[in-house]
Amino acid sequence: MITALDHIAIAVPDLKKAIERFMQDFGLPFEGTEDVAEAKTSTAFFPLPPTSIELVHPLDGGGPIAKYLEKKGGGLHHLCFRSDNIEEDIARLKEKGYQFLSDGPILGAHNSLAIFIHPKSCDGVLIEINQPAGDHH
Ligand code: CO
Repeated sequence: MITALDHIAIAVPDLKKAIERFMQDFGLPFEGTEDVAEAKTSTAFFPLPPTSIELVHPLDGGGPIAKYLEKKGGGLHHLCFRSDNIEEDIARLKEKGYQFLSDGPILGAHNSLAIFIHPKSCDGVLIEINQPAGDHH
């Protein structure tokens, strides 16, 4: 079951500059950065309860965010629903015909399990579903 809007992600061409903007100009609390090898991204999180802002930047210059930045220069990249049982949500949505970008969940930021729904299944919006670490079996 989907229980919360976990985060909203923005793709940024200059992570350091974007972190400074969100800290200094918007005054958001900075939780730190994390490289997510499986998703080939460097991320920065700004908790803004009950959700948070995630800045995403290509890790080592490659991966899907690099392609996105090449095409669009930056922008609103995805939103993420938190699930209390990701396998069950994936199965339910697959049954309804939703397509996913991977066969199963991958390891996301904060050791969560994460999977992306193909944007063409959601009117062009990229939606991630995650299940926080410690919450998955
Ligand atoms: Co995300």
